[in-house]
Amino acid sequence: MNINTKIIGLDYEVAQNIITNDDLSNILDTSDEWISTRTGIKKRRVISGEETSTTLGIKAAQKVIKRYNFDVEKIDLIIAACSAPEDIYPSVSCLIQSAINAKNAVCFDLRAACAGFIYSLNTAKAFIKSGVYKNILIVATDTTTKFTDWEDRSTCVLFGDGAGAMLVSATEEKEDDIIGINALADGSCGDYITLKTHGKNCPLVNNSKDNSNTFIQMKGKDVYKFVMTKIPPKIAELMENANYTSNDIDYFVPHQSNQRMIEALAQRLELDDSKVVSNIEHYGNMSAASILVAIREEINNGKIKLPAKVLISAFGAGMTGANAIISLDKNV
Ligand SMILES: CC(C)(COP(=O)(O)OP(=O)(O)OC[C@H]1O[C@@H](n2cnc3c(N)ncnc32)[C@H](O)[C@@H]1OP(=O)(O)O)[C@@H](O)C(=O)NCCC(=O)NCCS
Repeated sequence: MNINTKIIGLDYEVAQNIITNDDLSNILDTSDEWISTRTGIKKRRVISGEETSTTLGIKAAQKVIKRYNFDVEKIDLIIAACSAPEDIYPSVSCLIQSAINAKNAVCFDLRAACAGFIYSLNTAKAFIKSGVYKNILIVATDTTTKFTDWEDRSTCVLFGDGAGAMLVSATEEKEDDIIGINALADGSCGDYITLKTHGKNCPLVNNSKDNSNTFIQMKGKDVYKFVMTKIPPKIAELMENANYTSNDIDYFVPHQSNQRMIEALAQRLELDDSKVVSNIEHYGNMSAASILVAIREEINNGKIKLPAKVLISAFGAGMTGANAIISLDKNV
């Protein structure tokens, strides 16, 4: 029997507080004009109070389960794509499992930074095709603003906080909803985006390197160049393997990192502007969550019309990258 992957659906949750570029210019030497022209971002959501990656992830998971009236006891795996959780353990996925009462699910977190959602989708597809798990909840949640140096104007203006959730199941239907998927990693570029953790050696041995700077540090220009050189050929490979051309793609939803990058990638693909989905203006870079938030929001707004074949593409710290062509049916 041929087992395929069915995308049941998706939903999201974002942090409550909205911070505009003008708000930032009150605490930093920056301006709405600089941020908007260099990045396309106008405002972003930032966590406050009791909000964390886990609480946003739980809300996104609850919403997707409710939207599709999904039997939570059928979920046998939860993958949380969360690269900077508030606690190293327990894992975000275990906390989500407990909150939604998915008592039959095993759980693990996956760290591939902004590419975490597509890496998780790739993993979910492999588990489904091999028959190991049948109903998988992916929760992509990141609250990068908690790990941002709010005095570093070159990074703090870029990020926002949110979570997305997707349910995928095994099906005997002829077509796989994940039409094609690929990924890449290049650890030799690991220093392009870094976030250190705390930790100290045993007092009886030599101290290790000082990790006291626990904020995100980024070489913005190197990241930009990495994306523009490594991602387009990988998308071309994906399209070729699926026997797809740009005409077969209804929408392109890239990771929402920077409007200039979104436009440059779309141009390389020779995609009409009307097919390119961008909501970065309202949210900034929400890391692993960005693609799921953008897809759900644009379905809700009527820009994405279903059924649709959607090309998704993401890249981030590691450096990592991943792309997929997915099929969303009219019930998504
Ligand atoms: C971050 C990014 C927008 C910066 O744009 P850039 O054109 O490379 O800008 P630079 O870093 O060269 O800085 C240009 C100048 O603007 C200044 N600047 C940086 N941030 C600023 C801000 N928020 N407001 C005002 N000025 C700023 C710099 O200090 C620099 O000034 P100088 O020339 O006097 O030294 C761009 O590199 C980028 O988007 N890179 C990709 C980052 C990304 O998406 N990362 C996540 C991937 S998942």
